[in-house]
Amino acid sequence: MSKHPTFGRALRSEFLLQEDFVPLNHGSFGTCPRSIHPLRSEWQRKSELNPDHFFRHFVHLQLAKTRERLARFVHCDADELAILINATAGINAVVRSLKFKPGDKILCASTLYNAIERTMAFIQDSQNVQLVKVDLVYPLSDRQVVDAFKDTIERERAKDSNVPIRMAVFDAISSVPGVRCPFEALIKLCKEYEILSLVDGAHAIGQIPLDLHESDPDFFITNCHKWLHTPRGAALLYTPRRNHSLIHPSIINYAYKDYSQCSEEAEVTAAYQLEFGWPGTMDFSSFLCIDAALDFRESLGGEEAIQSYCNELARRGGELVASKWGTEILENEDKTLTVAMVNVRLPFSNKGNLPDRQISKALLEKFNDEHHTLGQPFKHNGHWYMRLSAQVYNDESDFEHMAQAGLKVCQDLDATTSYQGKWTIG
Ligand SMILES: Cc1ncc(COP(=O)(O)O)c(C=O)c1O
Repeated sequence: MSKHPTFGRALRSEFLLQEDFVPLNHGSFGTCPRSIHPLRSEWQRKSELNPDHFFRHFVHLQLAKTRERLARFVHCDADELAILINATAGINAVVRSLKFKPGDKILCASTLYNAIERTMAFIQDSQNVQLVKVDLVYPLSDRQVVDAFKDTIERERAKDSNVPIRMAVFDAISSVPGVRCPFEALIKLCKEYEILSLVDGAHAIGQIPLDLHESDPDFFITNCHKWLHTPRGAALLYTPRRNHSLIHPSIINYAYKDYSQCSEEAEVTAAYQLEFGWPGTMDFSSFLCIDAALDFRESLGGEEAIQSYCNELARRGGELVASKWGTEILENEDKTLTVAMVNVRLPFSNKGNLPDRQISKALLEKFNDEHHTLGQPFKHNGHWYMRLSAQVYNDESDFEHMAQAGLKVCQDLDATTSYQGKWTIG
């Protein structure tokens, strides 16, 4: 039995969220429960009592337990998990460690998050590989997404079968649009063609159930600070043992080892764990709060209850907003795209001919500053959408507020011919 109020607005007080704000953008930065903040301070305080004992011994012992618990959560072995600060660091660790040959090809979904797309551009520039984009224009069925990858692989092989496609990078749930990608089927496809699969699951843990041994990606990264309710600066990198010898952390530390000197797999895994276990001296409190975040989620009724509440609310809330806006949600016939984020087309026709950069800035600022609510606005396939996140602290009344706000913002924006704005980053 939950010791908290039931899901919805009543649960908002369990978070530090501003009372007069309607938060519908959990997907961007997450937020962690009120009860975890003092625990975090307590970990920071503990680290001051006897720093040597804390950093040389305690933190490693504690995080080994956390990895054991997380391994049960995502169905893998604890030594296949590394805890790091964020998804960007995880993706960097993988792609900057792998040795590519000039000309090698890497498939990248067109929907990759900007930081990941830029990381891949860096690999292209620094290692002279060829990035091959797989265009995903939604709404697509799962079959169409898999076919888009398969067709691209076949086309590239037909061009020159001697140039290998070394890796494919795709999302579990993409950022914009916020849609579930059939990553399990894509991993299988990669295996058929002997292509390494790197899955950006930044939005996955806590939003969808994960069974990493079952799906068996070559690399999978997921942010605990998005949908798992941990403080910011906590993510997981899953690497099956077969790939431990391929990667090092993106910041090399005291534990660096040339894996080719190891005589057996267990030795590589031990070295891998040491390297990823010490990112250099830092504040480990966000990692140390993962346990408390998992406890919090259990106290709400557990994963199934949380995930089905968020999924149902996203669907209902999205339909409600779309019907008020006279638009539609971005969904396919099988309804596989929406999980806890729903993408609703904005009732905006850009009568004032604003450039995209100004529209994006105006949408963020007007929703936030004038209407005290926010989702994540984005443009896809020529249309502007609002990605709305459903969390345990949201209910339908939040989507109603968003619907009203959206009508007003879009009406204002359609009458605007230039927008400079105030925020530093739009
Ligand atoms: C799909 C996706 N990948 C990666 C990231 C980067 O996450 P972080 O900034 O925590 O590294 C995000 C952030 O929103 C994301 O949405």
